[in-house]
Amino acid sequence: MSWDLEASLKRALVRQGWVFGDRYFRIGNPFTWVDGPLQLSSFDFRGVVDLAQWYSGYYEKYLTPESLKNSSYEKDYAILEGKYKEIYNSYFPFFDSSDPQVDLNISCHALARIQDYCMLSKYAPDLVERKDAVPCQKIRHLDFGAGLGGNATYSLFLLDGFYTAIEAHPWSYNIQRMFFRQLVQGKGRYLDLLAAESLELPIDELRKLISSEDFAIKQIPSWYFIDVPTASQDLVTATTVLNELNTAAIIYMLSESCRVLKEGGYLYIRDSAKLKPGRHNVNYDQVLVEQLGFELVHWLDVRNRIDMFAIPRLYRKKRNVTTNFDSLFTLLVGREAVTSHGGEYSQNLKP
Ligand SMILES: C[S@@+](CC[C@H](N)C(=O)[O-])C[C@H]1O[C@@H](n2cnc3c(N)ncnc32)[C@H](O)[C@@H]1O
Repeated sequence: MSWDLEASLKRALVRQGWVFGDRYFRIGNPFTWVDGPLQLSSFDFRGVVDLAQWYSGYYEKYLTPESLKNSSYEKDYAILEGKYKEIYNSYFPFFDSSDPQVDLNISCHALARIQDYCMLSKYAPDLVERKDAVPCQKIRHLDFGAGLGGNATYSLFLLDGFYTAIEAHPWSYNIQRMFFRQLVQGKGRYLDLLAAESLELPIDELRKLISSEDFAIKQIPSWYFIDVPTASQDLVTATTVLNELNTAAIIYMLSESCRVLKEGGYLYIRDSAKLKPGRHNVNYDQVLVEQLGFELVHWLDVRNRIDMFAIPRLYRKKRNVTTNFDSLFTLLVGREAVTSHGGEYSQNLKP
């Protein structure tokens, strides 16, 4: 465990009441990664080994459907692939990035991200057009559960936007630090909020940093999501993350995303689109449309791990629905629901 993230999380759990009363005994906190410990080894190398592990995690190659490609596809793909390569070479100059295995990993990362960008380019053209706008009109992109931080590649280099990563897990947070510090070069400044907190900046100063427009990349622990200003974002992305969370985290992500997105803003999800038995009580795709004022813009008709890795779908916020974590939890799973013990131990769920 990384001391800084652990200290920050523990302070937030107390400050925000997650270790007391109803939130502790009945609901559970939204800052855990259910699939993380199931999959990660108990070794946490805190450095280049973890980074290499993340690079190696993309190894199934799925080509982009022709119908999704735009006229600048090859050029845009080369930009993203170039960024992954550059960062790889900066950390691993002793390896050959043209080695077939490394080359495969890099192209799988770049393909996934160019496919996300193509979805936006085709189905949210108003967002993409803003890449040439003046800075105050450029897009603000918030990425929930950022992993390596790959969604920042198209955000910065194809959309020319401002990017915020929201992350809860120390392994991922530390890997993103390495990736973002290199990626931001030439694009502006990088804020690692945890670094500021570790050096004892008071909470008011941390909140000012979260709201500041002075950073190309902001990296923010998930418990500070509530401090991201309301209606400040044009795009929220959640790629291969929602299906790895507990009930509280899904509801937290939905309620906070709904709050920070501008009306007309987009929410992009890419995952298996399968709710795991004994794990998922909330059908997030359905909730967006039925309860939260979103409209489905496009669900890409592909088969997971046959045509593409994870199924992309794009939603648009059509109207403002005022909600918050507690009221959404009551609405979706019920006032009596007990989800704090996780998965199959959840009880008294609303039918
Ligand atoms: C499978 S990875 C996907 C990463 C990245 N979005 C991608 O598409 O490659 C899941 C990510 O979600 C993060 N995560 C897990 N639980 C979370 C939570 N409760 N709140 C925020 N992020 C979380 C993990 O640490 C990891 O970065």
